[in-house]
Amino acid sequence: MRAISALVITCLSPCAVTAQASMTHTLMPVPAAVTLSNDRLRLDSGFTIAIAGVRTPRLERAITRTIVRLERRIGVPVSRTYATGRTATLVIDAASAGPAIPGLDDDESYQLNVSPRQGVLKAPSVVGVIRGLETLLQLQDADQQGLYLQGASIHDAPRFRWRGLLLDVSRHFEPVSVIERTLDGMAMVKLNVFHWHLSDDQGFRVESRVFPRLQEFGSDSFFYTQSEIREIVAYAADRGIRVMPEFDVPGHSSAWFVGYPELTIGQGPFAIARRWGTFAPTMDPTRESTYKFLDRFIGEISGLFPDQYWHIGGDEVDPTQWKQRAEIQAWMKAHHIATEAALHTEFNRRLFAIVQKHDRIPVGWNEIFQPGLPTTAVIQSWTGSNVLAMSAKAGFRGILSAPYYIDHQKPASDFYLPDPLPANTDLTPEQQQLVLGGEACMWSEYVTPETIDSRIWPRLAVIAERFWSPASVNDVTDMYRRLDPTSTRLGELGITHLDHSRRMVRPLAGDSIDVFESLLRFVRPRDFGGSGDTQMWPHSGLIDAAVADPRASWNMAGVARAAVAGDTTAIAALQRAFTEMRGLDGRLAAIRDRVPAAQQAAEVAAALKELARVGLESLERTQQKATADSGWRAGSDAVLASVASARIGRWTLRPTSIDAVRVLVDAVSALPPSRRTP
Ligand code: ACM
Repeated sequence: MRAISALVITCLSPCAVTAQASMTHTLMPVPAAVTLSNDRLRLDSGFTIAIAGVRTPRLERAITRTIVRLERRIGVPVSRTYATGRTATLVIDAASAGPAIPGLDDDESYQLNVSPRQGVLKAPSVVGVIRGLETLLQLQDADQQGLYLQGASIHDAPRFRWRGLLLDVSRHFEPVSVIERTLDGMAMVKLNVFHWHLSDDQGFRVESRVFPRLQEFGSDSFFYTQSEIREIVAYAADRGIRVMPEFDVPGHSSAWFVGYPELTIGQGPFAIARRWGTFAPTMDPTRESTYKFLDRFIGEISGLFPDQYWHIGGDEVDPTQWKQRAEIQAWMKAHHIATEAALHTEFNRRLFAIVQKHDRIPVGWNEIFQPGLPTTAVIQSWTGSNVLAMSAKAGFRGILSAPYYIDHQKPASDFYLPDPLPANTDLTPEQQQLVLGGEACMWSEYVTPETIDSRIWPRLAVIAERFWSPASVNDVTDMYRRLDPTSTRLGELGITHLDHSRRMVRPLAGDSIDVFESLLRFVRPRDFGGSGDTQMWPHSGLIDAAVADPRASWNMAGVARAAVAGDTTAIAALQRAFTEMRGLDGRLAAIRDRVPAAQQAAEVAAALKELARVGLESLERTQQKATADSGWRAGSDAVLASVASARIGRWTLRPTSIDAVRVLVDAVSALPPSRRTP
């Protein structure tokens, strides 16, 4: 109950984050083994670092970044001169430099000990130090005497080797600055793969010098130059993050054909797709020239991406053209290929040979997992968690993405518990070894550079914890307790999620920004969380200003359960939240004539008012042990059903409190019959 109360204080009221109680930590991801002590290592302007092990430029850059972040918290300059081991505040001891280019088998383990006299961070290689420095920054707290690092003994190593984020820059392009701050955030939560989805129907985003019409005709001039790509790859490597490029073929490739129509079948001209979905133009797998092109292209572009893995896409291949074109069907017949799925496998077989010729290992979406596929491929499961197990049983290495689509506007708790290797897995220990890890996917149909931070963060941090921490770390309430300071720390990196709603709603709200900010505390976007259905849309509506898991609504159902159990802090917090929700309808009505967005929010505000009424009545009844007659129950169920199923208004916002109100209504129904009121 204490933990729930702490959460209520943190999440359902606007008060500042209080200093953590002793012997709890706010680490995210939670280390493999951590023992806290009551010791405090003071942090002030005298903070110094000593390097006891190897000294490499990458290590020194990581140390400088840490000093800059600490210095901002301490508020005064900190020395850049290394101290001796005996006197330093922090001793860093990496036994080896480790590989220059991050790889799947890097040893990311480290040990961190913080005593009142000194911190000592040891690791087998520099990347372990990079991981440990992030933990160290998360051990910082404050008391009346100032800042300190909490005493701790930590032995840490990741559970999975492959812990990634896919970022789609085709549907919407993201500038280098967005990519770099995303990499900073990834490093903070110990993710190690940046999967860069660089081409799709809606845009080809890389400068090719061998085939310049790819970017000239396929990108609307939004592409990364080769020098920008080198910069990003180096930036990621400095943070222990691999960069795996994806060029999605043979489907999802309309943007290639605008400049090079000979790669596909049928008459052009072809155009960049502006809408979302799958499209018929597909690469021609029957022509040798297709493979010659891909060979030269991969030969050129693999020079920019030193990672061992190369993602070939392979998802959602529309077989319409292959079915309809007589010359394709004739070719299939001549080569004894019976189905379009087999033709896709034939394409993959040829493509794999090219990828391997350029010294890369192919990765593909699970549609490539078909009879005849060489087991050299890594399968990325997106259509269901079961596909990962099926492919492991067939001898393929795999990564899981199906439960981690963060473009879906679901709360952090929904992403937290799904596990690449769930406790009830039926895989043998050898097959489990083939499960490399997982990747969250940030598809970008509805995101812009303005909104993307709020779509990734802070929810990605809880997925990162799933991939790094022991499987036993799975308490949702404690996750939300730690997510709050984690989110604040992400803000320190320049990630803009914390002020997203206020910033986005400002142009919509006239002089009534507070009303809209209040509204956005209790709603989330439906579905994919964006307005419009083409690339040309400005994505600047209320739905774009809303976030999937607003802090004021975190774990409301958990708080409702605590309220039912009698937690007075939880009861008070819910009363405050429901009272605020109930008032929005009237506040928006008062400005409806002069603020169009107030009209757009009218329906959802009316729904919030009804939910708040049922919530407050239920709270009252559970406190008084006054259960209700069947009419009250039916009325409350009707409110919940209509709110849950409604497409509310033009901007499709969805109340966050439906589950919490259901917990309360169920609690009223469960009261013993003897206490029923007449
Ligand atoms: C996918 O979401 N089509 C991989």
